[in-house]
Amino acid sequence: MASRGARCGGYQRAIPALMKSLFLLAWLPGLALSAWGQVAGGSAYVGSNTCEECHKQGYRRFSATKMAKVFFDAPRNDLEKQGCEACHGPGREHVEAAREHDRVRAQGQVYAGPPSGQFILRLGKGSPLSASEQTARCLQCHEKGGRLFWKGSAHEGRGLSCMTCHQVHQNRPAAPATAAFKEPLTGNTLFPTRTQMEVCLECHPMRRAQLQRSSHMPLREGEMTCASCHNPHGSPNPKLLVAASVNETCYKCHPERRGPFLWEHPPVMESCLNCHEPHGSTRPQLLKVSPPRLCQECHDSTGHPGQPHLATERYVFNRGCTNCHSQIHGSNHPSGSRFQR
Ligand code: HEC
Ligand code: HEC
Ligand code: HEC
Ligand code: HEC
Ligand code: HEC
Ligand code: HEC
Ligand code: HEC
Ligand code: HEC
Ligand code: HEC
Ligand code: HEC
Repeated sequence: MASRGARCGGYQRAIPALMKSLFLLAWLPGLALSAWGQVAGGSAYVGSNTCEECHKQGYRRFSATKMAKVFFDAPRNDLEKQGCEACHGPGREHVEAAREHDRVRAQGQVYAGPPSGQFILRLGKGSPLSASEQTARCLQCHEKGGRLFWKGSAHEGRGLSCMTCHQVHQNRPAAPATAAFKEPLTGNTLFPTRTQMEVCLECHPMRRAQLQRSSHMPLREGEMTCASCHNPHGSPNPKLLVAASVNETCYKCHPERRGPFLWEHPPVMESCLNCHEPHGSTRPQLLKVSPPRLCQECHDSTGHPGQPHLATERYVFNRGCTNCHSQIHGSNHPSGSRFQR
């Protein structure tokens, strides 16, 4: 009996504790959201000029960005008018707490109220919000355009947020002339690293290595970036490609490969990747495999390609199947069925 009573007692004590924690659970987000409740009234917002009072340097730096130029000088809707608060949420409670803190301190007393920082949304490193909650702040305005396929993309799925690749508070200074990668002409300056390429290469080190290989497209030289072929924000195509297929992506800049050809070479029409490695290769012309092996992977049964050759023989001289089959991507010559002309 005694033991049972004790158990019951424990049980009874547990209930109010449970209730209390349930209540706390319901109440805590309520606190954070209390400011949100007033969004419709607009009274919870104080305007960016008020933020400038205490965050002078941050305000000045942000003012130089393209985003701020729109927010502060030519807002097109109510959301843009909110300025700082469009991302950080309504700031009245934060400002009041910070002012109270200053007032109390000025009187030489110790401030015992809640820290002002808890009333404003902190983003980026150290944010209490999840990656998707933070991203939602940005998607308020950036859901369309390039971000249309963000939801469900490989990057969203792996927990990246907009802030993984972007810093928004100030324009990044131009890359120095000594930078490993020249800055391409995209004009976007809102990256945490000095150049856009470094953003990607941080997580894709294999690509960094490939770019150093002797044959590469001019990414190192600053004429194109990863974004020339991939949309890091997501795309409806495989591997975040900007166009519907590998070949469509390549045709953007190599339109002469599209044809139409009188004599098509099937592997070319199927995928450029049958023979090329787009990120860089130690073989000439970004080839995946050195000729003649490249060709012999598929052409091995009949005729001269399959015969064993001495290195000095004309068919493999200087590894040169393309010495004779020079129109390897397709030919429009009436007698070019073997891609020699
Ligand atoms: C009266 C001065 C004052 C004003 C006005 C003010 N802040 Fe602050 N803010 C502070 C102080 C002080 C802190 C540091 C709070 C802390 O460390 O707890 C801070 C911190 C922050 C932080 C970081 C929060 C964190 O978790 O560290 C953000 C974001 C912020 N403020 C945004 C704003 C925005 C947006 C506005 C305008 C709506 C604004 N502040 C207006 C004083 C102010
Ligand atoms: C486009 C969204 C956006 C706008 C607009 C914006 N911020 Fe921020 N803010 C951020 C992000 C994201 C961070 C985290 C740091 C970063 O990524 O640069 C941040 C960080 C901060 C911090 C904390 C810095 C730290 O990490 O200690 C303060 C303070 C702040 N912002 C104030 C402001 C003020 C003041 C304005 C208006 C002049 C403003 N923010 C406008 C997104 C924004
Ligand atoms: C209130 C609307 C709004 C919000 C919220 C917002 N942006 Fe913007 N953003 C803009 C506008 C307006 C521009 C100006 C250029 C344009 O129209 O594309 C811009 C431009 C940018 C650019 C390009 C800047 C350049 O120099 O080319 C980046 C990158 C960007 N925003 C990232 C973000 C990120 C990351 C967030 C979330 C932290 C965010 N934005 C939140 C409205 C917004
Ligand atoms: C994996 C890295 C990465 C992530 C994550 C990322 N971005 Fe970007 N963002 C880039 C790169 C790279 C560019 C430059 C693209 C170009 O030059 O075509 C860019 C460009 C932009 C631009 C300006 C060009 C345009 O398309 O209008 C905006 C705005 C932008 N990003 C917003 C966002 C927002 C909002 C998010 C979160 C949903 C986000 N980005 C997440 C890498 C990233
Ligand atoms: C914070 C780390 C990080 C950054 C920065 C980053 N990525 Fe990724 N990326 C990933 C992860 C994780 C995956 C998923 C890999 C997997 O599932 O095997 C991925 C996948 C990809 C894929 C393959 C998508 C698919 O469908 O399989 C491409 C393409 C890609 N990233 C390009 C880029 C480009 C371009 C940039 C720079 C604008 C970039 N990444 C920046 C982490 C990152
Ligand atoms: C010339 C176009 C082009 C450029 C530039 C380019 N890629 Fe790719 N990338 C591709 C193609 C095409 C694929 C698809 C490969 C496949 O389907 O096997 C791909 C695939 C990928 C993958 C996924 C690989 C896998 O096996 O899942 C990653 C990650 C990637 N690229 C990252 C990058 C990064 C980082 C950069 C910048 C350094 C970059 N790419 C530049 C064309 C390009
Ligand atoms: C954004 C434009 C662009 C896209 C997209 C593009 N290329 Fe290129 N590519 C170039 C440029 C620029 C060069 C250098 C041309 C030159 O030096 O004459 C080049 C060179 C090449 C070369 C020759 C490399 C060498 O070492 O001589 C090959 C092979 C190649 N590209 C294949 C591809 C394939 C395959 C794709 C699709 C996956 C592709 N390219 C997509 C711009 C692009
Ligand atoms: C059957 C293998 C094969 C396929 C598939 C292939 N290529 Fe090539 N490509 C080659 C070979 C081999 C060379 C080297 C040519 C030489 O040695 O004269 C080359 C060279 C190139 C070059 C650089 C030389 C030049 O003429 O400018 C470009 C650019 C190129 N290919 C683009 C493409 C594109 C784009 C595709 C997809 C539409 C593609 N290739 C598909 C085998 C192939
Ligand atoms: C991925 C496989 C593949 C690769 C790699 C490949 N080919 Fe082909 N090639 C084919 C196919 C499939 C045909 C069409 C065969 C047919 O129509 O009977 C073809 C046709 C040809 C033809 C015309 C022959 C005919 O019977 O009409 C020649 C010549 C040729 N290839 C040369 C080459 C050379 C040279 C290389 C190396 C640069 C090469 N091929 C690489 C698959 C390949
Ligand atoms: C010295 C010039 C020359 C070289 C080098 C050469 N070929 Fe040919 N190739 C020809 C001629 C000419 C034909 C047409 C033969 C015919 O119609 O009987 C041909 C035909 C072909 C065919 C069509 C199938 C057949 O047997 O008729 C293929 C496939 C082929 N070559 C692949 C290759 C490969 C792979 C290499 C590299 C190992 C290569 N060729 C090197 C001249 C050459």
